[in-house]
Amino acid sequence: MEPERLSNREALLERISSGCHELDGPKAVGVSASLAQLDSPVRICLVGLGRAGAFHMQSLRFVGARVAQLVCVVDTNLELARRTATEFAASDCVARATLEEVMADVALAGRVDAIIIASTTDTHYGLCKLALSASKATFTEKPISHHAEEVDEVICLAKAARAPLPAAAAKRREEGPEATTQGGCEQVPFLVGYQRRCDRNFRAPRHRAAGGCQEPPNSRPGSLSVGALRDLIADGALSSEPGIFHDMLSHDFDMIHFLTSEIPDEVFTVGHCYDPAIAALDDVDTVVVTLRYASGLLATVDSSRVAAYGYDQRVEVFGERGMLTAQNESRHTVELATAAGMPPPPPPPPGMTEGVADPMSEHALLGAVARAAERSWREGRNVKLAEVA
Ligand SMILES: NC(=O)c1ccc[n+]([C@@H]2O[C@H](COP(=O)([O-])OP(=O)(O)OC[C@H]3O[C@@H](n4cnc5c(N)ncnc54)[C@H](O)[C@@H]3O)[C@@H](O)[C@H]2O)c1
Repeated sequence: MEPERLSNREALLERISSGCHELDGPKAVGVSASLAQLDSPVRICLVGLGRAGAFHMQSLRFVGARVAQLVCVVDTNLELARRTATEFAASDCVARATLEEVMADVALAGRVDAIIIASTTDTHYGLCKLALSASKATFTEKPISHHAEEVDEVICLAKAARAPLPAAAAKRREEGPEATTQGGCEQVPFLVGYQRRCDRNFRAPRHRAAGGCQEPPNSRPGSLSVGALRDLIADGALSSEPGIFHDMLSHDFDMIHFLTSEIPDEVFTVGHCYDPAIAALDDVDTVVVTLRYASGLLATVDSSRVAAYGYDQRVEVFGERGMLTAQNESRHTVELATAAGMPPPPPPPPGMTEGVADPMSEHALLGAVARAAERSWREGRNVKLAEVA
Protein backbone atom coordinates (compact mmCIF):
# COMPACT_ATOMS: atom_id res chain seq x y z
CA MET A 1 0.00 0.00 0.00
CA GLU A 2 1.22 3.53 -0.82
CA PRO A 3 2.31 5.18 2.46
CA GLU A 4 0.32 8.23 3.46
CA ARG A 5 2.12 11.40 2.40
CA LEU A 6 2.79 14.14 4.88
CA SER A 7 1.60 17.66 4.20
CA ASN A 8 4.31 20.21 3.61
CA ARG A 9 3.81 21.73 7.03
CA GLU A 10 3.79 18.39 8.85
CA ALA A 11 6.84 17.31 6.94
CA LEU A 12 8.80 20.43 7.76
CA LEU A 13 7.79 20.31 11.39
CA GLU A 14 8.79 16.72 11.63
CA ARG A 15 12.04 17.28 9.83
CA ILE A 16 13.20 20.24 11.83
CA SER A 17 12.05 18.68 15.08
CA SER A 18 14.03 15.59 14.14
CA GLY A 19 16.99 17.93 14.15
CA CYS A 20 15.95 18.88 17.68
CA HIS A 21 18.50 16.79 19.50
CA GLU A 22 20.38 13.58 19.49
CA LEU A 23 18.46 10.82 17.83
CA ASP A 24 19.41 7.25 18.33
CA GLY A 25 17.95 3.77 18.41
CA PRO A 26 14.71 2.38 17.04
CA LYS A 27 12.61 5.47 17.58
CA ALA A 28 14.90 7.53 15.46
CA VAL A 29 14.62 4.94 12.73
CA GLY A 30 10.85 5.38 13.02
CA VAL A 31 11.22 9.07 12.35
CA SER A 32 13.48 8.63 9.37
CA ALA A 33 11.21 5.94 7.94
CA SER A 34 8.36 8.42 7.68
CA LEU A 35 10.70 11.11 6.43
CA ALA A 36 11.91 8.79 3.70
CA GLN A 37 8.51 9.27 2.00
CA LEU A 38 9.43 12.86 1.17
CA ASP A 39 10.58 13.98 -2.28
CA SER A 40 13.47 16.29 -1.56
CA PRO A 41 15.64 17.14 1.44
CA VAL A 42 14.89 20.14 3.61
CA ARG A 43 17.71 22.63 3.15
CA ILE A 44 18.88 23.85 6.52
CA CYS A 45 20.83 26.81 7.81
CA LEU A 46 22.28 26.16 11.29
CA VAL A 47 23.07 29.24 13.37
CA GLY A 48 25.35 28.79 16.40
CA LEU A 49 27.94 26.04 16.43
CA GLY A 50 28.60 25.55 20.15
CA ARG A 51 27.33 22.73 22.32
CA ALA A 52 23.69 22.88 21.17
CA GLY A 53 24.81 23.32 17.54
CA ALA A 54 26.80 20.09 17.89
CA PHE A 55 23.64 18.24 19.00
CA HIS A 56 21.84 19.48 15.92
CA MET A 57 24.66 18.47 13.61
CA GLN A 58 24.63 15.03 15.16
CA SER A 59 20.91 14.78 14.39
CA LEU A 60 21.43 16.03 10.84
CA ARG A 61 24.12 13.40 10.31
CA PHE A 62 21.78 10.79 11.70
CA VAL A 63 18.80 11.57 9.47
CA GLY A 64 21.13 11.91 6.47
CA ALA A 65 21.35 14.21 3.46
CA ARG A 66 18.36 12.62 1.75
CA VAL A 67 16.20 14.06 4.54
CA ALA A 68 18.00 17.19 5.67
CA GLN A 69 20.75 18.96 3.82
CA LEU A 70 22.98 21.43 5.66
CA VAL A 71 23.44 24.25 3.14
CA CYS A 72 24.77 26.94 5.46
CA VAL A 73 26.43 27.19 8.88
CA VAL A 74 26.59 30.48 10.73
CA ASP A 75 28.67 31.53 13.72
CA THR A 76 30.13 34.87 14.74
CA ASN A 77 33.29 32.82 15.11
CA LEU A 78 33.76 32.63 11.33
CA GLU A 79 36.77 30.38 11.63
CA LEU A 80 34.62 27.83 13.50
CA ALA A 81 31.90 28.16 10.85
CA ARG A 82 34.40 27.55 8.04
CA ARG A 83 35.88 24.55 9.79
CA THR A 84 32.43 23.13 10.47
CA ALA A 85 31.31 23.58 6.85
CA THR A 86 34.40 21.69 5.68
CA GLU A 87 34.20 18.98 8.32
CA PHE A 88 30.53 18.38 7.63
CA ALA A 89 31.76 17.36 4.19
CA ALA A 90 28.82 18.81 2.34
CA SER A 91 30.39 20.15 -0.83
CA ASP A 92 27.94 23.02 -1.15
CA CYS A 93 27.68 23.98 2.54
CA VAL A 94 28.80 27.58 3.01
CA ALA A 95 29.97 29.42 6.14
CA ARG A 96 28.84 32.89 7.20
CA ALA A 97 29.38 35.02 10.33
CA THR A 98 25.79 36.27 10.68
CA LEU A 99 22.28 35.30 9.64
CA GLU A 100 21.82 38.85 8.34
CA GLU A 101 24.51 38.10 5.73
CA VAL A 102 22.68 34.92 4.70
CA MET A 103 19.37 36.72 4.32
CA ALA A 104 20.95 39.61 2.41
CA ASP A 105 22.30 37.15 -0.18
CA VAL A 106 19.12 36.50 -2.18
CA ALA A 107 20.47 33.41 -3.93
CA LEU A 108 21.72 31.83 -0.69
CA ALA A 109 18.56 32.74 1.25
CA GLY A 110 16.52 31.17 -1.54
CA ARG A 111 18.34 27.89 -0.96
CA VAL A 112 17.32 27.77 2.72
CA ASP A 113 14.01 26.13 3.71
CA ALA A 114 14.51 26.01 7.47
CA ILE A 115 16.67 27.75 10.06
CA ILE A 116 17.87 26.18 13.30
CA ILE A 117 18.85 28.80 15.87
CA ALA A 118 21.30 27.36 18.40
CA SER A 119 23.30 30.48 19.25
CA THR A 120 23.37 32.02 22.72
CA THR A 121 20.02 32.98 24.26
CA ASP A 122 20.52 36.73 23.95
CA THR A 123 20.44 36.33 20.15
CA HIS A 124 17.27 34.20 19.81
CA TYR A 125 14.78 37.08 19.76
CA GLY A 126 16.45 38.96 16.90
CA LEU A 127 17.25 35.83 14.92
CA CYS A 128 13.70 34.44 15.28
CA LYS A 129 12.32 37.73 13.97
CA LEU A 130 14.71 37.65 11.04
CA ALA A 131 13.95 34.02 10.18
CA LEU A 132 10.17 34.32 10.54
CA SER A 133 10.03 37.61 8.63
CA ALA A 134 11.67 35.75 5.76
CA SER A 135 8.97 33.01 6.11
CA LYS A 136 11.57 30.34 6.91
CA ALA A 137 10.54 27.32 8.96
CA THR A 138 12.23 28.04 12.28
CA PHE A 139 13.47 25.98 15.17
CA THR A 140 14.92 28.02 18.02
CA GLU A 141 16.70 26.70 21.04
CA LYS A 142 15.04 27.58 24.31
CA PRO A 143 14.27 30.07 25.62
CA ILE A 144 13.05 32.52 22.97
CA SER A 145 14.05 35.31 25.33
CA HIS A 146 14.35 36.08 29.02
CA HIS A 147 11.88 38.97 28.49
CA ALA A 148 8.17 38.10 28.42
CA GLU A 149 7.29 40.88 25.96
CA GLU A 150 9.90 39.58 23.47
CA VAL A 151 8.55 36.03 23.80
CA ASP A 152 5.03 37.32 23.10
CA GLU A 153 6.25 39.31 20.10
CA VAL A 154 8.00 36.30 18.54
CA ILE A 155 5.00 34.02 19.13
CA CYS A 156 2.67 36.59 17.52
CA LEU A 157 5.02 36.84 14.56
CA ALA A 158 5.17 33.03 14.28
CA LYS A 159 1.38 32.76 14.35
CA ALA A 160 1.10 35.33 11.56
CA ALA A 161 3.99 34.06 9.41
CA ARG A 162 2.87 32.50 6.14
CA ALA A 163 4.73 30.77 3.31
CA PRO A 164 3.52 29.75 -0.17
CA LEU A 165 1.92 26.31 -0.47
CA PRO A 166 4.13 23.53 -1.90
CA ALA A 167 3.23 24.09 -5.57
CA ALA A 168 4.11 27.75 -5.41
CA ALA A 169 7.26 26.98 -3.42
CA ALA A 170 8.32 24.39 -6.01
CA LYS A 171 7.83 26.94 -8.79
CA ARG A 172 9.99 29.40 -6.91
CA ARG A 173 12.59 26.74 -6.42
CA GLU A 174 12.70 26.00 -10.14
CA GLU A 175 12.40 29.55 -11.44
CA GLY A 176 14.14 31.42 -8.62
CA PRO A 177 12.86 33.88 -6.03
CA GLU A 178 11.50 36.24 -8.72
CA ALA A 179 9.00 33.62 -9.97
CA THR A 180 5.42 34.86 -9.94
CA THR A 181 3.37 32.43 -7.89
CA GLN A 182 -0.32 32.06 -7.40
CA GLY A 183 -2.23 30.05 -4.87
CA GLY A 184 -2.58 29.85 -1.12
CA CYS A 185 -0.24 30.05 1.80
CA GLU A 186 0.30 27.96 4.89
CA GLN A 187 1.55 28.77 8.35
CA VAL A 188 5.33 28.78 8.73
CA PRO A 189 6.45 26.00 11.09
CA PHE A 190 7.94 27.29 14.34
CA LEU A 191 9.36 25.20 17.17
CA VAL A 192 11.09 25.95 20.47
CA GLY A 193 13.70 23.56 21.87
CA TYR A 194 11.71 22.11 24.75
CA GLN A 195 12.27 18.70 23.24
CA ARG A 196 10.44 16.67 25.89
CA ARG A 197 7.19 17.98 24.36
CA CYS A 198 8.06 15.91 21.30
CA ASP A 199 8.44 12.70 23.26
CA ARG A 200 5.38 10.50 22.94
CA ASN A 201 5.85 9.30 26.52
CA PHE A 202 5.41 12.78 27.88
CA ARG A 203 2.67 13.70 25.41
CA ALA A 204 0.46 10.80 26.50
CA PRO A 205 -0.02 11.93 30.13
CA ARG A 206 -0.96 15.35 28.83
CA HIS A 207 -3.72 13.99 26.66
CA ARG A 208 -4.98 11.82 29.47
CA ALA A 209 -4.74 14.51 32.12
CA ALA A 210 -6.72 16.72 29.74
CA GLY A 211 -9.53 14.17 29.68
CA GLY A 212 -8.40 12.02 26.78
CA CYS A 213 -8.89 8.80 28.77
CA GLN A 214 -12.09 7.41 30.21
CA GLU A 215 -10.92 7.88 33.78
CA PRO A 216 -8.98 11.13 33.83
CA PRO A 217 -7.03 11.05 37.10
CA ASN A 218 -6.89 14.77 37.26
CA SER A 219 -10.55 15.72 37.06
CA ARG A 220 -9.83 17.71 40.23
CA PRO A 221 -6.49 19.40 40.86
CA GLY A 222 -4.10 16.94 42.43
CA SER A 223 -0.37 16.87 42.56
CA LEU A 224 2.28 16.43 39.98
CA SER A 225 5.91 15.53 40.32
CA VAL A 226 8.60 15.96 37.70
CA GLY A 227 12.02 14.44 38.25
CA ALA A 228 15.02 14.99 36.05
CA LEU A 229 18.59 13.84 36.31
CA ARG A 230 21.15 14.67 33.71
CA ASP A 231 24.74 13.68 33.37
CA LEU A 232 26.10 17.02 32.28
CA ILE A 233 29.13 17.09 34.49
CA ALA A 234 30.82 14.04 32.99
CA ASP A 235 31.67 15.87 29.77
CA GLY A 236 32.20 19.20 31.50
CA ALA A 237 29.27 20.46 29.49
CA LEU A 238 27.71 23.28 31.42
CA SER A 239 25.51 25.43 29.24
CA SER A 240 26.08 29.08 28.48
CA GLU A 241 22.72 29.65 30.24
CA PRO A 242 23.05 31.33 33.65
CA GLY A 243 22.59 28.48 36.11
CA ILE A 244 20.60 25.33 36.79
CA PHE A 245 17.19 27.04 37.07
CA HIS A 246 17.41 28.49 33.54
CA ASP A 247 19.45 25.80 31.85
CA MET A 248 17.94 22.60 33.30
CA LEU A 249 14.83 23.28 35.37
CA SER A 250 13.28 25.47 32.67
CA HIS A 251 12.62 22.15 30.84
CA ASP A 252 10.80 20.82 33.92
CA PHE A 253 8.76 24.00 34.40
CA ASP A 254 7.86 23.78 30.72
CA MET A 255 6.83 20.13 31.14
CA ILE A 256 4.45 20.98 34.00
CA HIS A 257 2.96 23.78 31.93
CA PHE A 258 2.71 21.44 28.93
CA LEU A 259 0.83 18.88 31.06
CA THR A 260 -1.48 21.27 32.90
CA SER A 261 -1.57 24.56 30.94
CA GLU A 262 -1.20 26.26 34.33
CA ILE A 263 1.33 28.78 35.61
CA PRO A 264 2.15 28.75 39.36
CA ASP A 265 1.38 31.53 41.81
CA GLU A 266 4.13 30.72 44.26
CA VAL A 267 7.43 28.86 44.33
CA PHE A 268 9.73 27.52 47.06
CA THR A 269 13.18 26.06 46.43
CA VAL A 270 15.82 24.22 48.40
CA GLY A 271 19.15 23.44 46.76
CA HIS A 272 22.58 22.08 47.54
CA CYS A 273 25.87 22.03 45.69
CA TYR A 274 28.12 18.98 45.85
CA ASP A 275 30.43 19.96 43.00
CA PRO A 276 32.99 22.65 43.92
CA ALA A 277 33.32 23.76 40.28
CA ILE A 278 29.59 24.53 40.16
CA ALA A 279 29.66 26.14 43.62
CA ALA A 280 32.40 28.45 42.31
CA LEU A 281 29.89 29.63 39.69
CA ASP A 282 27.49 30.59 42.53
CA ASP A 283 25.14 27.84 41.43
CA VAL A 284 23.79 24.55 42.80
CA ASP A 285 23.68 21.06 41.30
CA THR A 286 20.79 19.50 43.27
CA VAL A 287 17.42 21.17 43.67
CA VAL A 288 13.86 20.53 44.85
CA VAL A 289 11.25 23.13 43.89
CA THR A 290 7.66 23.19 45.15
CA LEU A 291 5.10 25.07 43.07
CA ARG A 292 1.63 26.12 44.21
CA TYR A 293 -1.12 26.86 41.63
CA ALA A 294 -4.33 28.87 41.90
CA SER A 295 -6.39 25.77 41.03
CA GLY A 296 -5.06 23.92 44.09
CA LEU A 297 -2.55 21.92 42.10
CA LEU A 298 0.73 21.30 43.90
CA ALA A 299 3.81 20.33 41.89
CA THR A 300 7.37 19.42 42.72
CA VAL A 301 10.45 19.40 40.55
CA ASP A 302 13.30 17.23 41.79
CA SER A 303 16.40 17.75 39.72
CA SER A 304 20.11 17.03 39.82
CA ARG A 305 22.97 17.49 37.40
CA VAL A 306 24.45 14.21 38.56
CA ALA A 307 23.24 10.94 37.04
CA ALA A 308 25.95 8.31 36.86
CA TYR A 309 23.87 6.24 34.43
CA GLY A 310 23.01 9.04 31.98
CA TYR A 311 19.79 10.89 31.40
CA ASP A 312 16.64 10.22 33.39
CA GLN A 313 13.32 12.05 33.39
CA ARG A 314 10.03 11.04 35.00
CA VAL A 315 6.57 12.45 35.53
CA GLU A 316 3.99 11.39 38.11
CA VAL A 317 0.48 12.84 38.13
CA PHE A 318 -1.74 12.06 41.12
CA GLY A 319 -5.45 12.87 40.95
CA GLU A 320 -8.82 12.13 42.42
CA ARG A 321 -9.36 8.93 40.47
CA GLY A 322 -5.90 7.59 39.91
CA MET A 323 -2.41 8.39 38.80
CA LEU A 324 -0.24 8.48 35.72
CA THR A 325 3.47 7.94 35.41
CA ALA A 326 5.81 8.36 32.47
CA GLN A 327 9.54 8.08 31.99
CA ASN A 328 12.20 7.96 29.28
CA GLU A 329 12.10 4.99 26.97
CA SER A 330 14.78 2.34 27.05
CA ARG A 331 17.18 2.15 24.15
CA HIS A 332 16.15 -1.44 23.45
CA THR A 333 14.16 -4.28 24.99
CA VAL A 334 17.01 -6.78 25.36
CA GLU A 335 17.15 -8.24 28.87
CA LEU A 336 20.13 -10.06 30.31
CA ALA A 337 19.41 -12.37 33.23
CA THR A 338 22.40 -13.69 35.18
CA ALA A 339 23.18 -14.73 38.76
CA ALA A 340 23.55 -10.99 39.38
CA GLY A 341 19.89 -10.45 38.52
CA MET A 342 18.20 -8.65 35.63
CA PRO A 343 19.63 -5.17 35.12
CA PRO A 344 17.36 -2.95 33.01
CA PRO A 345 18.52 -1.86 29.54
CA PRO A 346 20.22 1.52 29.35
CA PRO A 347 18.07 4.61 28.92
CA PRO A 348 18.18 6.44 25.57
CA PRO A 349 20.36 9.50 25.12
CA PRO A 350 18.73 12.86 25.80
CA GLY A 351 16.44 14.17 23.16
CA MET A 352 13.32 13.66 21.22
CA THR A 353 12.15 10.21 20.28
CA GLU A 354 9.43 10.86 17.77
CA GLY A 355 6.58 13.12 16.90
CA VAL A 356 5.90 16.76 16.34
CA ALA A 357 6.00 19.28 19.15
CA ASP A 358 3.37 21.73 20.13
CA PRO A 359 4.51 24.48 17.74
CA MET A 360 3.98 27.40 20.11
CA SER A 361 5.72 25.77 22.98
CA GLU A 362 6.76 28.68 25.14
CA HIS A 363 4.61 30.57 27.58
CA ALA A 364 5.89 34.08 28.21
CA LEU A 365 5.76 33.51 32.00
CA LEU A 366 7.91 30.35 32.04
CA GLY A 367 11.05 32.47 32.39
CA ALA A 368 9.50 34.07 35.46
CA VAL A 369 9.03 30.62 37.06
CA ALA A 370 12.77 29.96 36.68
CA ARG A 371 13.59 33.40 38.12
CA ALA A 372 11.22 32.84 41.08
CA ALA A 373 12.77 29.42 41.78
CA GLU A 374 16.26 30.90 41.71
CA ARG A 375 15.32 33.81 43.95
CA SER A 376 13.64 31.42 46.42
CA TRP A 377 16.88 29.39 46.66
CA ARG A 378 18.99 32.51 47.10
CA GLU A 379 16.72 34.15 49.69
CA GLY A 380 15.46 30.98 51.43
CA ARG A 381 11.78 31.99 51.26
CA ASN A 382 8.59 31.51 49.28
CA VAL A 383 8.55 33.75 46.20
CA LYS A 384 5.30 34.85 44.56
CA LEU A 385 5.45 34.79 40.80
CA ALA A 386 4.13 38.35 40.77
CA GLU A 387 7.43 39.49 42.37
CA VAL A 388 9.46 38.50 39.33
CA ALA A 389 6.97 38.48 36.43
N1 LIG B 1 17.19 22.30 24.48
C1 LIG B 1 18.23 21.93 25.21
O1 LIG B 1 18.21 20.92 25.91
C2 LIG B 1 19.47 22.78 25.17
C3 LIG B 1 20.71 22.23 25.53
C4 LIG B 1 21.84 23.05 25.47
C5 LIG B 1 21.73 24.37 25.08
N2 LIG B 1 20.49 24.88 24.76
C6 LIG B 1 20.35 26.28 24.34
O2 LIG B 1 21.14 26.49 23.19
C7 LIG B 1 21.68 27.80 23.17
C8 LIG B 1 23.18 27.73 22.97
O3 LIG B 1 23.77 27.08 24.07
P1 LIG B 1 25.23 26.44 23.94
O4 LIG B 1 25.44 25.72 25.23
O5 LIG B 1 25.37 25.72 22.66
O6 LIG B 1 26.14 27.76 23.90
P2 LIG B 1 27.63 27.86 23.36
O7 LIG B 1 28.20 29.06 24.02
O8 LIG B 1 28.33 26.54 23.50
O9 LIG B 1 27.48 28.13 21.78
C9 LIG B 1 26.89 29.29 21.26
C10 LIG B 1 27.50 29.57 19.88
O10 LIG B 1 26.73 30.61 19.27
C11 LIG B 1 27.64 31.50 18.63
N3 LIG B 1 26.97 32.81 18.48
C12 LIG B 1 26.74 33.74 19.42
N4 LIG B 1 26.04 34.78 18.90
C13 LIG B 1 25.82 34.48 17.60
C14 LIG B 1 25.15 35.14 16.54
N5 LIG B 1 24.55 36.32 16.70
N6 LIG B 1 25.11 34.53 15.35
C15 LIG B 1 25.70 33.34 15.15
N7 LIG B 1 26.36 32.66 16.12
C16 LIG B 1 26.42 33.23 17.32
C17 LIG B 1 28.87 31.52 19.52
O11 LIG B 1 30.01 31.97 18.82
C18 LIG B 1 28.96 30.05 19.93
O12 LIG B 1 29.72 29.31 19.00
C19 LIG B 1 21.27 28.44 24.50
O13 LIG B 1 20.17 29.27 24.27
C20 LIG B 1 20.86 27.26 25.39
O14 LIG B 1 19.82 27.60 26.29
C21 LIG B 1 19.39 24.10 24.79
